[in-house]
Amino acid sequence: MLRGMLTLLRARLFHTPKNPFTEAGALEAFSDGALVIDGERIVAVGDAATLRGRYQSAALAGDPESYLLPGFVDTHVHYPQVRVIGAMGLTLLDWLRERTLPEEARLADLAYARALAARFVRALLRNGTTTALVFGSHFPGAQEALFEEAERVGLRLTSGLVLADRLLRPELHTDPETAYRTCETLISRWHGRSRLRYALTPRFALSCSDALLEVTGALLRAYPDVWFQTHLNESRDEIRTVAELFPWAEDYLATYERFGLVGARSVFAHNVHVREGELRRLAAAGSAVAHCPSSNMFIGSGLFSLRRHLACGVRVALGSDVGGGTGFSLLKEGLMAYQGQMLQPDGVPLGPAHLLYLATRAGALALGQEALGDLSPGRQADLVLLKPPPGSTLEEVLRHSPSPEASLGALFTLAREESVRDVWVAGVSLRAHLAGG
Ligand code: GUN
Ligand code: FE
Repeated sequence: MLRGMLTLLRARLFHTPKNPFTEAGALEAFSDGALVIDGERIVAVGDAATLRGRYQSAALAGDPESYLLPGFVDTHVHYPQVRVIGAMGLTLLDWLRERTLPEEARLADLAYARALAARFVRALLRNGTTTALVFGSHFPGAQEALFEEAERVGLRLTSGLVLADRLLRPELHTDPETAYRTCETLISRWHGRSRLRYALTPRFALSCSDALLEVTGALLRAYPDVWFQTHLNESRDEIRTVAELFPWAEDYLATYERFGLVGARSVFAHNVHVREGELRRLAAAGSAVAHCPSSNMFIGSGLFSLRRHLACGVRVALGSDVGGGTGFSLLKEGLMAYQGQMLQPDGVPLGPAHLLYLATRAGALALGQEALGDLSPGRQADLVLLKPPPGSTLEEVLRHSPSPEASLGALFTLAREESVRDVWVAGVSLRAHLAGG
């Protein structure tokens, strides 16, 4: 789509321009809808008939029988873990030691890393994810391979070299000085280039000395517009070990706070077993939490208390956490979030609008990307087009849906990779990148 040439995309549209946790009528749906796109941007959203009258010169595209949503935003996913998905029978620390870290060590081989980067980027797109905050590799070459692939394809990605200097495997360890220099090089090369940004990424407090966290804080002060991501309060064994390693810390969050790592550009994955004081401090800092329901259930970490996060005003979005998570689909993460709330006595009752918001606009806001996450005029045209495979259960359910809300509930419950037909980032279709051997 060239600048100045309007395209009118017809589909059934769904988006959440308002926050359904705080406002009524947050879901906006058009059952015979259209989106008008000018270059990178959305210029209009509404009923197809109305918009066709108003934009008569626009090129027609889309399919009125398909479903168009804002591209999904995955706020926590690990690039080196594509091939670890489905490793059963282990909780976090054993799962890391026995299955995940051996695979991450293979990325020392650049050819291996490049092949994996291509698979990873394609897997995001095939699942309708257009923006992601990604845990990269411990190896600088492999980290560059990910940035190169995302740039080549045109994906929006924030990522960084994973840092650790203890308790993993020696080949995954760095030292504070090397970490500082390598991150500086990567930031200067990649931050703000194409649709890429850099995120400082200590793996978790358990695998980082005070000195390594200290240099991470120094980097954040030296480069105040880069992002920060790590893990927090995921499993009970992890939390117990962190308490032993940091006897001075009042709780897990304090291990990061002490080094200036808790701010409005910080995203913390999991936060399952969280204390009240930590929630209050996360809210005051404006930090975001990546809720990864399929991972929390698969690894057996626990059930996420959305109610307490919302009550304290902590921002929450969804993450797939592949490969602790069970796949790349943010639709599935939405379904798992719903189920996780249903299982708790004080769970937050979620509906399709909440799931859509958590998978799109909430993620955009958690990542500071105000121009993404819904279909309002002025937003970037980052989109996912869904259509059920002919003869599928999803097709049958959608055909009999009594309302747009019910259709959206069916999509979250049943639509997966097979239903993703096209993906746009900044008005450009990336359909060619969905396929491949
Ligand atoms: N904590 C530290 N590393 C990891 C990881 O790779 N996955 C998950 N789920 N938690 C972690
Ligand atoms: Fe993770």
